[in-house]
Amino acid sequence: MEKLIIEGGRELVGSIQISGAKNAALPLIAATLLAPGIHELTNVPDLRDTRTILALIGELGCTCRRQGSTLYIDSSDVAYSEVSYDLVKTMRASVLVLGPLLARLGRAKVSLPGGCAIGERPINFHIRGFERLGVHCTLEQGYVDARREGELKGGTVHFDIPSVTGTENLLMAAVLARGTTVLKNAAREPEIGNLIDMLNNMGAEVEGKGTDQITIHGVDKLSAAKTAIIPDRIETGTYLMAIAAAGGQATLTGCEPGHLPALLDKLMEAGVEVKTAENSISVSMASNRRQALKGVDIKTMVYPGYPTDLQAQFMALMTLSSGICVIKETIFENRFMHVAELRRLGAQIQTEGNSAVVTGRGPEGLNGARVMATDLRASSSLVIAALAAAGRTEISRIYHLERGYENLVDKLNGLGAKVWKENE
Ligand code: EPU
Repeated sequence: MEKLIIEGGRELVGSIQISGAKNAALPLIAATLLAPGIHELTNVPDLRDTRTILALIGELGCTCRRQGSTLYIDSSDVAYSEVSYDLVKTMRASVLVLGPLLARLGRAKVSLPGGCAIGERPINFHIRGFERLGVHCTLEQGYVDARREGELKGGTVHFDIPSVTGTENLLMAAVLARGTTVLKNAAREPEIGNLIDMLNNMGAEVEGKGTDQITIHGVDKLSAAKTAIIPDRIETGTYLMAIAAAGGQATLTGCEPGHLPALLDKLMEAGVEVKTAENSISVSMASNRRQALKGVDIKTMVYPGYPTDLQAQFMALMTLSSGICVIKETIFENRFMHVAELRRLGAQIQTEGNSAVVTGRGPEGLNGARVMATDLRASSSLVIAALAAAGRTEISRIYHLERGYENLVDKLNGLGAKVWKENE
């Protein structure tokens, strides 16, 4: 196993190219199962999670060729096969093949994901939605066995809470159903808009992109198409906060500022200088002014609210402010695993239920220590804190980071950080 070593306290200066979004690439790769032919996906990040879903669709019969950041996926020969616990336990998003397999083959059997480091994360909304489209689902020995008799039939699906992968799974099932499906209280994240664009490129008829009501008029046939993956808004936000925390001045290119409304507002409110252009964001924070950072409260919400996937990173930034802030996590019930690790660097954080109160360290700042990565975004908050901390931090279990950040070490060193990997 590898660990990450960071010598903190250096300003970050320069520019970084943002990669394609992990959470868009995963459903779009799954969507290639819907239609035979050679699909072309551009701007696909090369991550542990994208490799996992490619291995998964490979087991189902697809072949894949990567050229730079473009993937050519041939899904002409897709055959029924169970998706094992071994795959689903490494990546919950494996459940995204349920919708397309039901639409194309009429049957899908996927291991039920267990709880994970951030919460219980059930898939009951996905299952209930499939049932609304006429699918019969049974749970046996830890597997969801979903089958349709005849065609899928359009219907109305109302989500109790907007679910990102739930909305994506239902969208992919409904595009080939007979009749019209309406998804109500659907999630509105930009990654869902990216999936809708891909499905429409393939010949689907989906309306309501960017809204909480999505209407899908089922079609008889889809064909392979070309689609570009949107920039990763969570990677963008993570680097913005890393630069604000360590101090420095940098430009993030190839990103979409319009996908980060809540974060950009909060950063400016905290006193970070942020300038946006069409596909780039420049951020600036002199390290000798870092104690001027104000404490700013956040509450995680579904899009376009403040994203839960940027909560841990904002907490790391706030540990350096000269104020107090309250961070409320409303999406996942257990997403404060980073708190104990941040405390090891000197952070002052109290939690109660789904709230955390952060008392910024101001001019005292943080000090390097040995810490442990517990999940993907928690790990990136430790990287941010370590970049700002005085001295050396060692982060173990960095395989979590490799699930979602492409070339993290090279990108940070390109900005003047001192980061490297070592064997544990
Ligand atoms: N929920 C249910 N039942 C369901 C589905 C969801 O109760 O059937 C609950 C969840 O437990 C949670 C809430 O609804 O409390 C919202 O969960 P959602 O379904 O939206 O989460 P997800 O689709 O499993 C995606 C991202 C996560 C991100 C969340 C929230 C992908 C592959 N994953 O998960 O990304 O945190 O949406 O925005 O898109 C990450 O990238 O680090 C990550 C965890």
